Amino acid sequence: KRLLPLLTGLVLLLTACGREDLSTLNPQGPVAEKQFELMKLAIGIMTLVVVVVFAICIYVLIRFRRRKGDKAIPKQVEGNHKLEVIWTVIPIILLLILGVPTIQSVFGFAKDYSQDKDAVQVKVTAHQYWWEFEYTDYGITTAQDLIVPTGKKISFELVAADVKHSFWIPAIGGKMDTNPGSSNRMYLEFPNEGVFRGKCAELCGPSHALMEFKAKAVSQESFDRWVSAMKAPAVMPADAELAEKFTSQCLSCHAVGENGGNSAPNLTGIGSRETVAGYLFNDEGGIEENLREWITDPQSVKMGAMMPGAEDTGLTPEEIADIAKYLAEYKLDY
Ligand code: CUA
Repeated sequence: KRLLPLLTGLVLLLTACGREDLSTLNPQGPVAEKQFELMKLAIGIMTLVVVVVFAICIYVLIRFRRRKGDKAIPKQVEGNHKLEVIWTVIPIILLLILGVPTIQSVFGFAKDYSQDKDAVQVKVTAHQYWWEFEYTDYGITTAQDLIVPTGKKISFELVAADVKHSFWIPAIGGKMDTNPGSSNRMYLEFPNEGVFRGKCAELCGPSHALMEFKAKAVSQESFDRWVSAMKAPAVMPADAELAEKFTSQCLSCHAVGENGGNSAPNLTGIGSRETVAGYLFNDEGGIEENLREWITDPQSVKMGAMMPGAEDTGLTPEEIADIAKYLAEYKLDY
């Protein structure tokens, strides 16, 4: 009876793991597929070991149990060279079967495609608690939504701006640490179009669990259109007063197009993004409401975020509504 709540809890937990878009068990690309193969190999070997050990254990328990009237101490055996060699050699063989492909793959995943002309180069900078994506060949920077073309190798350089984070798109592959002061390399491939959820996989502060991003795989044509749209002149608020307010309050840290700073997420085309703050999903036109919530009180959305709220910026609810409306309408056509 005590087991029942435990089992129920476990089932619930495993159901939560079953979210397809955050699952390594439903690989959507060659890197994740290879990682899944390795998982299956490891689990296979472990299962084999458990079954064999338990079978021997149970056999010994039954075969050599104390029978009725058994008083004598059985013959004591110490040391058996043949057995000791067997149980040393078998684990060595199993570890080789597991270790050789694992080590080969680990180095394969970190392969450097930075000189590959066909690969798309992306420099990922992890911040508390957002993701910056710089497309070094195109001179553009975006945040939170990683846009990639299908069918090409995406070559990542991974760094962190503050503390250690980890870059992971469970269905596509990963994960690899992003470290302050040094860079790591890995590559991924996206054979299918779609939106794949990415996560920070290294405890990095109070909002670690909310440090999410989206990888959006689109056709090459779509990607090219996105690059051009990102490079187009910035769309500023039409209203001159609002434009001034937006410039003084937001563009000291954020950027749109060629205007603004780079210490906060780039906002170019933010109206086309999947989420606000990485996890407030914008479906059903919720983006304006999400932006309003975020600009008004970032701490209630993402504890520990650097973004100042209305208390510090002094923006009125009307001004916030206007900025939210402008940003929500700042979409990129691609
Ligand atoms: Cu960044 Cu956890």
